[in-house]
Order: sequence, then C-alpha cells, then structure tokens
Amino acid sequence: MLDSPMRDRPTTLPIRFENVAFAAGVTSILRNVTLSIAPGSPTILMGPNGSGKTTLLRLAMGLLRPVAGRILYAEHETVVRHRHAIVFQKPAMLRRTAARNVAFALQAAGRMPSVATVARLLNVVGLGALAERPARRLSGGEQQRLALARALARDPEVLFLDEPTASLDPAATKAVEDIVMRTAEGGVKIVMATHDLGQARRIAGDIVFLANGLLVEHASAAAFFSEPATSQAKRFVAGELVI
Ligand SMILES: Nc1ncnc2c1ncn2[C@@H]1O[C@H](COP(=O)(O)OP(=O)(O)OP(=O)(O)O)[C@@H](O)[C@H]1O
Ligand SMILES: [Mg+2]
Repeated sequence: MLDSPMRDRPTTLPIRFENVAFAAGVTSILRNVTLSIAPGSPTILMGPNGSGKTTLLRLAMGLLRPVAGRILYAEHETVVRHRHAIVFQKPAMLRRTAARNVAFALQAAGRMPSVATVARLLNVVGLGALAERPARRLSGGEQQRLALARALARDPEVLFLDEPTASLDPAATKAVEDIVMRTAEGGVKIVMATHDLGQARRIAGDIVFLANGLLVEHASAAAFFSEPATSQAKRFVAGELVI
C-alpha cells in the first residue's frame, strides 16, 4: 500500500458526453446530451426537480450506462473510477468513529490510513476535535463534512456532489461550501448539482442547465446569470417555477 505522489495517475478529464441518452424501460430520462466537463473551476448542474441532474451525475460517475451515445474519459471509453469521489445529499455513515470512517476510506482507496493522514483530513473539514465521536452521532452538517473528508481521502481528480447542502442550515451550508471551494482551489474538479441559486453564483465556473431531460444551456456562470440565453433559464434565474 504505497501512498506516493509518484504512483500512476491516469486522468479522467475531460469527461465528454456525445449524444447521450438514458431511459428506464420505455421512460426517457435524458436525451441527446452533448457536454464536455473540463478541468478547472467548478461545473454546477442546475434545473428543476426531475430534470435529470442526478441521472447526469450518475452517468458521468460511470454508475449508469447510456442507452445511446457515449461518454469518454480523457478520450477513452473506460471510466477511471478510482479518480472519482462522490458525496450524496444524505451520506451513509459507518457505525464507528469519525476517525475510523476516514481511515476506512483511505484503506479502501489503497492509501495508508496513518494517524497523521486521518488527522489532516479531519482538520481540512474542521472535524479535528470530533475525531473520536461515533459518526452517526454527528449532526447533519458534521456528517456532510465527514463525507467530504472520506471523499478527499480518495485523493480524487474529480469530486461529484449531488445537492450536498440540501438539508443543511445556512451555517452548515457555508461550512460545506468553504470546503468545496478550497478543494477546487487545490486543483480538484468539482461537479455539483444544486437547487440553490445563491450557491451556484458563489461557486460555479460554468453552469449546465437541464430541463425535462434536455441540456438547455451550458455557459460560464457570468454569462448564465447575466444573460441566460433561453426563456427557461431566464425564468429559472429569476426564481420563477420552470415546469
Ligand atoms: N430508475 C428510474 N426509473 C424510472 N424513472 C427514473 C429513474 N431514475 C430517474 N427517473 C426519473 O427521471 C427523472 C429525472 O430524475 P433525476 O433524479 O435525474 O432528476 P433530478 O434533476 O436530479 O431531480 P431532483 O432535483 O428532484 O433531485 C425523474 O422524473 C425521475 O423520476
Ligand atoms: Mg437529484
């Protein structure tokens, strides 16, 4: 179990969707999605409930296969899953301490679960003082930060987040956003779905806007928020219901 920066590091970026469709049985969920997720600042997925954000994330992660089209990772068809880390809205905590949750994640990623590395990761997410607390006793916001520490334990190239702050209060949301932004500044590509327009404005480099299973708009955050190109995005940015 080496933990050397010199180990082989194949890249997973860019992640390119070419005319991707996804369906469950006869129900079409995503259609004709062409998209490049490139290295750099965070890519944020937005769109109404049921528009296909989670499905698009799961396709990009390699957890779902397209029913049509293809997804390329650094121009290859094989997903480089060990360079991906994932945080869902409601993370599942192992029935053990915060520190042992992180140690387990390190081990699962083939990294040395040393006391120093576990402490460093807990400190990154501000949980150093809660290392010995059972993870399931942590608050929702603390559990979400622990989920981030476990994700970072994988030393990912891409961190996928699916509405990680949806059930958190403003202070806990800010704590998670700060970790996400520091992680991005550290060179990790963030791909995140959120409903929160304010959060998207704070974090996004580019916005992928979905509606009804279609990619309606992909633009820089500056362009998306100042001049949405479509009427659907205009109404969404204005806070109106988009159905
Ligand atoms: N396995 C499945 N079988 C049937 N329908 C599905 C399946 N997975 C997703 N769907 C449907 O596909 C649509 C898109 O779902 P998805 O979860 O990707 O949307 P979302 O944009 O993440 O929504 P939300 O904002 O509510 O999280 C929804 O109508 C959902 O019910
Ligand atoms: Mg979703």
